[in-house]
Amino acid sequence: MTNDITAAIETALQRVSDAASLDEIDAVSGETLGKKGVLGGLKASLANIDDIEERKAVGRSLNEGFASVSAAIDERRQELIAIERASQVAGERLDLTEAMDTASRGHLHLVTQAWQELEDVFVGLGFTVAEGPEVETDWHNFEALNMSEGHPARGEFDTLFIGHDEHEDAGDSGLLLRTHTSPVQIRTMLTSEPPIYIVAPGRVFRRDTPDATHMPVFHQIEGLVVDRDISMADLAGTIEAFTQAFFGEGFTSRLRPSYFPFTEPSAEFDIRRPDGSWLELGGCGMVHPEVLRAGGVDPEEWSGFAFGFGIDRMAVMRHGITDIRDMYVNDIRFIEQF
Ligand code: DAH
Repeated sequence: MTNDITAAIETALQRVSDAASLDEIDAVSGETLGKKGVLGGLKASLANIDDIEERKAVGRSLNEGFASVSAAIDERRQELIAIERASQVAGERLDLTEAMDTASRGHLHLVTQAWQELEDVFVGLGFTVAEGPEVETDWHNFEALNMSEGHPARGEFDTLFIGHDEHEDAGDSGLLLRTHTSPVQIRTMLTSEPPIYIVAPGRVFRRDTPDATHMPVFHQIEGLVVDRDISMADLAGTIEAFTQAFFGEGFTSRLRPSYFPFTEPSAEFDIRRPDGSWLELGGCGMVHPEVLRAGGVDPEEWSGFAFGFGIDRMAVMRHGITDIRDMYVNDIRFIEQF
């Protein structure tokens, strides 16, 4: 009988390891461990052994056989569950690679890229970002910036007026499309107390016919600092810090005397490239006392500097674009080069 038991256990263990599905393992379990199973049957025949000691010994090996077969069944069942799960997951897997390959990705407009990078650099230098309306009053755009009616500098701005009566400066509405971002200086001073450290990027408009270097709609970034004891040295230092942060190593800046109605003294600033060539970038200067007054700031207590330059020009120069109009045609063959 011991031989029968050993043989039955061996067969059972072999069937367990051969089982290839959960159904099969359930069947093996029933046919070996179940009441009517092989081992179950052997258990029943224990009663036929007369010798008590022998019956005990056979019973013990039968129990061990039960235990080892049932452990093997549990183990194999866990393996089969893992295998079935893996094949189910593999079957439901979605391959999205094809969709990714064919969908082409766009990018931000070159002007938006330059705009955002300029903001980043100035925020890094401690400035906050301000904004103002694109439809402006004559007062904010000109008057408050020390260009009253009849000021010759007004003629340099080919202004687009709203509700314009021909030959008159401002239309009846007194509204216009802002010709520069400088009116944001006035709005900021009127709505906040010094110290002020802001940059104001934005869209500006002039009555220009588009050509390789001009667009009637373009972008500028304005800077304004108002604090105690601000000097021309602070202005020069800020321009230099900006130059190195934005353009990188090997670039420096210089100021050249110039004239703007809203600054005194005024300067233009140039960037020196590593190859020694100069690039004219924008205008700047110490904020004119009249402009501080228009902004509700006492020039006896506070002083400040301002600067402004074109964003489109920065984008064009950076990428070596020879015709500024190309940036606005939305020709995919052009766009995809950047
Ligand atoms: N607003 C001037 C323009 O559009 C640029 C400018 C010059 C801005 C001097 C300034 C400045 O803030 O100080 O041409």
